[in-house]
Amino acid sequence: MTKNVLVTGCAGFIGFNLSKTLIKENNNVYGIDSLNNAYDKKFKDLRLQNLESENNFQFISNDLSDEDSLNDLADIDIVYHMGARAGVRQSFNDPLSYIKDNTIATTNVANFCKNNNISKMILASTSSIYGNSGEKEMVEDIDEKINPPSIYASTKLSGETLAKTILSSHNTNLIITRFFTVYGPYGRPDMSILRFIHWIMENKEVKIFGDGEQRRSFTYIDDVVDLLLKVQDCDSNETFNVGNNKTSSLNEVVKIIEHFSNKKAQVVNEPRAFRDPDVVLPSLSKSKNTLKWEPKTNIEDGIKATIEWYSSFQDKIKDFTYIN
Ligand SMILES: NC(=O)c1ccc[n+]([C@@H]2O[C@H](COP(=O)([O-])OP(=O)(O)OC[C@H]3O[C@@H](n4cnc5c(N)ncnc54)[C@H](O)[C@@H]3O)[C@@H](O)[C@H]2O)c1
Repeated sequence: MTKNVLVTGCAGFIGFNLSKTLIKENNNVYGIDSLNNAYDKKFKDLRLQNLESENNFQFISNDLSDEDSLNDLADIDIVYHMGARAGVRQSFNDPLSYIKDNTIATTNVANFCKNNNISKMILASTSSIYGNSGEKEMVEDIDEKINPPSIYASTKLSGETLAKTILSSHNTNLIITRFFTVYGPYGRPDMSILRFIHWIMENKEVKIFGDGEQRRSFTYIDDVVDLLLKVQDCDSNETFNVGNNKTSSLNEVVKIIEHFSNKKAQVVNEPRAFRDPDVVLPSLSKSKNTLKWEPKTNIEDGIKATIEWYSSFQDKIKDFTYIN
């Protein structure tokens, strides 16, 4: 059945890939984005150009922290709130932008859902709220001892809490999806895999903060989109981890890129970033049992596909800005 779906952050990495799949599956997609300057806007223009070539896509250029930003929308069935200001390191320098784009914007989206009796709101959240996991797998039911290690994580956690409070006892079903380090085509230039691919392909220095032994639950974008579609069938208010329980270190990622690009990386190690966790491990039991979902793409296949995408746009995107 065709649905009217609102995707916030549609010019961002995850919102874009999600919108493409929703359109392919015959939904009408209304995409909203403020095209903020968190990283080079040319990446957002590239994604938006692609979306605007689709018939059942409509773009709204608005800032969700503006209370009236959603006033003109009617007859929306589902809201995917993917819009946010992401990035852990930058958040320490600019807390107010993170409060505006994550906490205030999420409050406005939740209020929109409440006031318009939207049946489902799917809210993007992050593994960053867990901090360093050590060997312990992080489960979704966090307790009061949680202590978000960054401004980014604090504003995302407050977005979760506000959406829960606003929508409790209302008709909107709230699903929170906590993503673990997502990568893939049309990715973000401030995240390690795309930066590393760019630096290695263009014979530039590959900067690694720390010794590169920190491990991440790298999760391929198609697996994330797959889960985002599956949660449409979940009718209770739930929180799901969206990750990969096979982690990789940054050094392993560099080796895989070297292998598929047939190039040698010139690695330069710099001081470790403030409060950078050693490892963040997800528990996937709930996503597996409730949604019958698990990540299907291994890191080698995911990186190979991302390098192929980079190569197909290389002339255009090699001169875009990649954040250190
Ligand atoms: N990519 C990851 O690894 C990852 C991991 C954990 C959580 N997340 C979460 O997933 C979501 C999507 O992340 P992404 O990687 O696609 O990031 P992104 O920065 O590529 O996309 C976010 C988009 O939201 C837009 N936006 C920001 N503030 C806005 C506002 N006030 N009004 C309208 N639009 C606004 C931005 O312009 C951007 O295009 C975010 O909620 C992020 O916190 C991402």
